[in-house]
Parts: sequence; C-alpha cells; structure tokens
Amino acid sequence: MPDLVRYDITDGVAVITIDNPPVNALSPAVWTAIDEAVARAGADAAAQAIVLIGAGTTFIAGADIKVFDTLKTSADSMSRSGGTHALLRRLEDSPKPLIAAIHGNALGGGLEVAQACHFRVAVKDARVGQPEVLLGIIPGAGGTQRLPRLCGAKLAIEMCTDGKAVAAPKALEAGIVDAIVPGDLLQGAIEFAKSKAASGQIRKARDIALTADQVKAGVDACAAARQTLTKTAKGAKAPFAVVDAIEAGLASGFDRGSVRERELFADCVVSTESKALRHLFFAEREVAKVPGISKDTPTKEIRRAAVIGAGTMGGGIAMTYANAGIPVLLKDVDDAALQRGLATIRRNYEVTMSKGKMTAEQVEKTMALITPTTTYDGLDQVDIVVEAVFENMDLKKATFAELGKVARPDCVLASNSSTLDIDEFARASGRPAQVIGHHFFSPANVMKLLEIVRGRETSPEVIATSLKLAKRLGKVGVVVGNCFGFVANRMLAYYMREAYLLLEEGASVEQIDRVLTEFGLPVGPYGMQDIAGIDVGARIRMYLKSIGKTRAEGPQSAIPDRLFEMGRYGQKTGAGWYKYDAPGSRNRTPDPLIEQLADEEAAKRGITRHPIADDEIVARITTALANEGARVLEEGYATRAGDIDIVYVYGFGFPRHSGGPMFYADTVGLPTILARVQEYRARFGDYWEVAPLLERLVAEGRGFYSDSASVGAA
Ligand code: CAA
Repeated sequence: MPDLVRYDITDGVAVITIDNPPVNALSPAVWTAIDEAVARAGADAAAQAIVLIGAGTTFIAGADIKVFDTLKTSADSMSRSGGTHALLRRLEDSPKPLIAAIHGNALGGGLEVAQACHFRVAVKDARVGQPEVLLGIIPGAGGTQRLPRLCGAKLAIEMCTDGKAVAAPKALEAGIVDAIVPGDLLQGAIEFAKSKAASGQIRKARDIALTADQVKAGVDACAAARQTLTKTAKGAKAPFAVVDAIEAGLASGFDRGSVRERELFADCVVSTESKALRHLFFAEREVAKVPGISKDTPTKEIRRAAVIGAGTMGGGIAMTYANAGIPVLLKDVDDAALQRGLATIRRNYEVTMSKGKMTAEQVEKTMALITPTTTYDGLDQVDIVVEAVFENMDLKKATFAELGKVARPDCVLASNSSTLDIDEFARASGRPAQVIGHHFFSPANVMKLLEIVRGRETSPEVIATSLKLAKRLGKVGVVVGNCFGFVANRMLAYYMREAYLLLEEGASVEQIDRVLTEFGLPVGPYGMQDIAGIDVGARIRMYLKSIGKTRAEGPQSAIPDRLFEMGRYGQKTGAGWYKYDAPGSRNRTPDPLIEQLADEEAAKRGITRHPIADDEIVARITTALANEGARVLEEGYATRAGDIDIVYVYGFGFPRHSGGPMFYADTVGLPTILARVQEYRARFGDYWEVAPLLERLVAEGRGFYSDSASVGAA
C-alpha cells in the first residue's frame, strides 16, 4: 500500500504530503501519520520549517465520515476527540514554522488541521469551510475555537452554521489564510516557510487573545444567530450546538471552550439527525453507480437542446438548460402559448434579479439562450429533445413519432412524463435505444431531482449521458425503472391515498398539512396539490380508468374528482383544497366546503368521522411510503433503498434530518412498520398488503440498511 503521508526535504524545508485518494480524508491512520511526520520534521536538523500539502486535486476534505459510524456512544466520541485535540496541540506546538498549503478544498477536519498550523497559504481558487453541520455534527477538532480567533466570531458562526465554503480571496481578507500563492503552490509555500523560519515567526491560533469588545460582539452575534436559526433551522440540533460551542470559547477561553466543543460534538455524532444526514451524503454519491453503466460507458456531448411544450414544466426545463449555458429551442403549437411561456420565464428571472441573485445583463444573456419556435425547424441541430407536453398517452406518442422523423439519429429523446410508460413512447419513435425518461420536479428550475427512467431498450450510452447531463444541470440524477409513476409518483399514490382516507375518517385538510409540515415537509399533501394542480391528478385518474387501472389499491376518494368537476384546480383557479385571495395567489384560508364534501363521502362509505391524533397521521403516511418503497425495491425499480431516499428528499423535500422514507422506516424499526401494516390491514381492509421484502427483512432481523446500503433486487 502506498504511504498515506510522504516526507521529503526540499530546499531545507520538510514537505509532508498527504496522499489518501480521492479527497485525502482524515482516516485514523492519516491523523497518526501527520502527527508522526510533523514530530519527525521538528527533530530533523535538515528542516528549518514544515509545509503540509495534499496530493491530487485537494488539500483535505475533512475527517473520514465513515469513521463516525464506529462511534457508538458519546463516551466513544469523547475519548477519540480527546486524542485528536491533543494531536492538534502537538502540531501547533511544533518548534518550527508549520505552513498549510491549500489547493482544492480544506473542509471540516481539513480546515481544522490547517488552523492548527502556524500559517496558511492557498491558491486563488481554493475553498475553505466547516461543512460539519450539513452532516448533523459540529466541527469537532477545534474549529469552533480556533476559527473565531482567526476571523472573528461573526464569520465563524456563519461558516459553521450554514456549512458553505468560502473562496480563498475572501478567506485572505477575513484572516483565515495568510497569503495567496500566485504560481506553483508548493514552491510558493516553501518560500513562505523559509521566510517565517528566517524571522522566527510562529503564530498559534489558540493563543490569539480576544479583547473584551470582541468577546461582547461575539456573544451578541451568538444570540442573533440563535434567533435566526429558530426560523431557518427548525427541528435541527447541530446548528444550535455550533453556536453553543463558539459561545463557550468566547466566554470561558480556549481550553474550556474546547472541552465544550467535544461534549457537544459527542452529543451530535450519535444523534439520529447526524446518522440520517451522513446516510444521505453517501446515498447521493451512490446513486451515480448504476448497474450496467461504468466509467467507460461512452457519453454524448450535449451542446444544444430542445424542449417541446412551453407550459409550466417545459418552461422550467428550458430555464434549467439556459441556466447551465446550453442553448435551447422552446417549441409550442402556437404563438400565444409560446408568448405565455416566455413571459412566465422572464417573470421568474426578474424575481431572481429583484432578490439580487442575477443582474439585468445576466437575465438578458440567459433569455437569449432560449429560442422560441412553433415549428420543428432546427430540431435536426440539437443533441437532446425533452418532451414536456400534457400527460396524455396519445399526444405523447404522436410527439415521439414526429421526433423520430425530425431529430438526428443520435439525438437523445427524453420524456418529462411523470407516470406513463416510456416503452410506448420508445416504440412510437422508431428508435427505442435513444428514448429515456427525464422526469423533472416542479418547479423544474429549482428542484434538484431528475428521475431518469430507463426503458426496456434504452442504451447504456443514453443513460450515462443523462447522468452526466444531470450533474451539469445542477441536478441529482437517479436512474429508476419503468413502472407506472416510476419511483416518485408510484409511492406518492400511497401517500395521497392515506391523506384522502384520513380526511374522510375525520382529520381536516389543515390538520394533515400542519402535521406533515411539522414533521419537516416543506408543504403538506393538500397544499402541494393546490400548487401542482388538482386537474393534473384528475386527468391521470381518467386515463387509468380508461385502461382499467387505479394508482394505489384501496378505496378511491371521490373528493379530488369532485373538486376537479367544480373547476377548483388549486392556486391557479383561486380555489382547491383551500380558498385563495385570487387566482394565482398563495394566500390561503380553510374552506368549509371541504368538510362538507368529506362528511358526504364518509357517509357514503358508512364512516362516522371522528378526531384523528397527529401521530396517527404521520404513522399512516410514512408506513404507506415505506411499505410501497419495499415493493419498488424488491421489484427492482430502484437499485438501492438509498436511491428512494434521494428521490424523496430532492423531489418532494422529505426532511433531510429523517434521512428519507426508507431510512426513517429503519429508524422507527421495521418490526414496528410491519406491525402497523398488519394492524391497518385488520382495521381497514386487505388493500393494506405487507410487502414481501418488509416481512423477510423483519424475519431476518435486518433493516433496509442494517447490512449494507443496498438491499435492492437489481
Ligand atoms: N470522508 C469520506 N469519504 C469522503 C469524504 C469524507 N470526508 N469526502 C468525500 N468522500 C468520498 C465520497 O464519498 C466519494 O466517494 P465515492 O467516489 O466512493 O462515491 C469521493 O470521496 C469523491 O467525493 P465526491 O463525489 O463528493 O467528489 P466531488 O469532487 O464532487 O466533491 C468534496 C468533493 C467537495 C470534497 C465533497 O466530497 C465533500 O463535500 N466532501 C465532504 C466534506 C465534509 O463534509 N467534510 C467534513 C467531514 S466531518 C469533519 O471533518 C469533522 C471534524 O470536525 C473532524
């Protein structure tokens, strides 16, 4: 095995190179090797100073996140972090100037190692950050203590609570780095180190004294941060722990602050919040690993695109391409529809501009990438077409038949269908290997998920191209199988079934929405339907009826169809599950009509409506998701349970701190989930059917994640 840390003497300076690909994560062996190398340099007469640098593309991306799973209790963490803190003090006590030379990223423990060095130099495009909070933990290697001393409490609180990295020039201005190296980093760092050796300068961050005014300003910043976090970080624990740790260091000094940091870290690292967020970190990277697709699978360059349909979805998809700098033709049947679509796109960009996130020039430049058209002219020039016409099988098939004639033979033909059979479009196009589903989530230019639906004959090249393209568009691409509703909407049908039935049984629309937003969803099922449009679901139900199917087994509530018949489509018509001030308004109030409809439908089904406890709402809905998720997994429509979690977190805003519906089910315990399904079957009827995989996992004493991240059949 190659050395994790190399030691060389160059020009009288000890160069310690960390070489633990791909991101030089700090595994226990790397920590030890750095410690030993710095000690060796301290005693090496040939070294007047020391440079610590990363091999490959980055400095250090932090502690090895996998190692946190080995910390079973807070006590384990306390003993481990005691060792790390002592190690960093040893680095800081090095008798020779110790310089961190940063390129790529210095994140988490990586930045904490750099803070324990006496000085930090960086290349201009390096980034430094404390992203631990995104993993449900806090900086645990002195970051909450040294960083405020280097850059002031305000910026330290900001960096540690939002987890965003800052670029080297800003870090220089703030005092986190001491110099930007213009040319070769190692050469520059060696020169810098020699100058410090010559002047005998050593600066320990832990010894930087804070004035009374600085302490007061810092404590005030902590109070302000807590206030903001009560709104922005509802339900999360780690951001508040960060502030507590920083405040402890300000109020009681470095040593006591460090102990407090270790205690708070120990508390966070064993929390469900942290386990869920760590799970999502790896699940998000895992989704790129698709059976049958390798790094060597060829991909096609996407230089130009076309979107068919300038409605809400089509417009959002065109914006997504334009935002990524890809020129896009936007086609609709007539000029009026096109102009409406373009006006909505412009309005969206102007809202972004009014928030200061885009300049007028950027708006015009981006708009110029979108070319409206009512014909198929120019379609032979594009590398991908995304069909976003109404969710109607005949219309979509006709569109694909046309695309099969006008697009280049190597053009990717993607459909934004949210439910329908991709293979039928593929057949209609006459070139099935080129056809794939690209299911965007509304609003398409905002939501991070791209469900990539693999048809029976979709070529590996088209799948690999889609995964690469998703990244370029700023999306997380998850490859799923072609079943009705794919993964996202197939499971959603069960979520909605329970939401409707709970309403008929006696819960109110407002109660159900409130309970689910308190659970952490950005919007409840009814609020979501009012945004998406009640007509969309109604049309899908009509299509299903025409082919003799239903979306989810069990009683079908008539209320959504009754709303559709009344023309209550949601926000856009000013009424749906709620009443709105005006069409298009978001200001909603409860509507007594819904209670009346629920009473009528309950009476038809012989139900006496009664109060429903909040807990039952969460239990019914999350159990329905997990049970159907297990079926999706077993049938091979999702590769891994983690893929389902990513679909729900990025497609529907399922709360990250719960890890997604499958991880959440594991946290509740699969025996409990199974017992609930059995109980619901007894209470409500046979349509509650235990997923065989769920039963098997419980019998084997396993969870969706107990053995590995993958229990999928595919
Ligand atoms: N630990 C373990 N593995 C890590 C890792 C880490 N800190 N950071 C990245 N990796 C792994 C990824 O899982 C991935 O593995 P696979 O190829 O097997 O999927 C590989 O490294 C490459 O990562 P990305 O695909 O994410 O590569 P990228 O180039 O898109 O992004 C990055 C690189 C910006 C460094 C990104 O990986 C990242 O943000 N990493 C996490 C940074 C982080 O959160 N650090 C804090 C850790 S906690 C800590 O340090 C606590 C403390 O106080 C001591």
